[in-house]
Amino acid sequence: MSGMRARKAVIPAAGLGTRVLPATKAVPKEMMPLADRPAIEYIIEEAVASGIEALTIVTSRTKRAIEDHLDAAPELEAVLARKNDPVRLSAVRHVETLARYSFVRQPHALGLGHAVLMARETIGNEPFGVMLPDDIVDAPQRPCLAQLLDAHQQVGGCVLAVMRVPLEQTAKYGVVSLASPDPVAPGLFRVRDLVEKPRPEAAPSNLAVIGRYVLAPGIFEAITRTQPGAGGEIQLTDAIKLLGEREPIWACEFSGIRYDTGDPVGLLTTSLAFALKRPDLAPGIHAFLRTIPRE
Ligand code: G1P
Repeated sequence: MSGMRARKAVIPAAGLGTRVLPATKAVPKEMMPLADRPAIEYIIEEAVASGIEALTIVTSRTKRAIEDHLDAAPELEAVLARKNDPVRLSAVRHVETLARYSFVRQPHALGLGHAVLMARETIGNEPFGVMLPDDIVDAPQRPCLAQLLDAHQQVGGCVLAVMRVPLEQTAKYGVVSLASPDPVAPGLFRVRDLVEKPRPEAAPSNLAVIGRYVLAPGIFEAITRTQPGAGGEIQLTDAIKLLGEREPIWACEFSGIRYDTGDPVGLLTTSLAFALKRPDLAPGIHAFLRTIPRE
């Protein structure tokens, strides 16, 4: 069953960022820099490189810097133009023009499923991508979301990005079990069950969902039927499981390296990894790293 190619995606950015406090007290975690660019720019670039044209960003109080960042900055741009600084001018303008942006608020932090529900009107009745901004995926061959969209076009339903994690880490993730160990296409498996943040002894496998999804629009109705789950929150994982009674759910073992920027170590190491890929920044980082004694 082939589906239409999704052209819209949702970026849930309403989370409180408690794992990176106090940095995130007044600054959204999505605006934390990875090298010299806010994390959300990497997400938006992945979306656009995957063929997404319109993004709905779900925000909340203390998140207005995201809207300002994705908008024009006429005063700043005028100053940079006057100073004849075209490099910085295009760096500032770059993200404004990449996609069409809509912003919706999530008034209460009721969970990831509830945050996605806030995008119901802007998405409408089409399949769409969901990109969790804590997860940055470096996939130079083909962006992670594009890999899921390719799979979705072949098989329809919902497609979740998954990766193997050490069993002791299952409580950090949504975890899937497979209907069959045999893929229907390379790296693509039918999902039998999903559990949000199981303890290792309750985990159905060590295949963890990471923050990239292609969802069928039926997910919105499924979210409205989803009761609070892990952590007392309305979980996207639970809504996908409900939708799985009507539509096939697929797990895509994507290729690429996934970074978690949601905690201080992850934020720093991701920043380092991306700075080291930049010819203008790498020499300074290498010089610093050589001064650090090995453990
Ligand atoms: C969310 C999802 C979880 C998924 C994870 C990936 O959890 O609820 O299923 O495995 O993202 O990063 P969170 O990290 O927001 O607690």
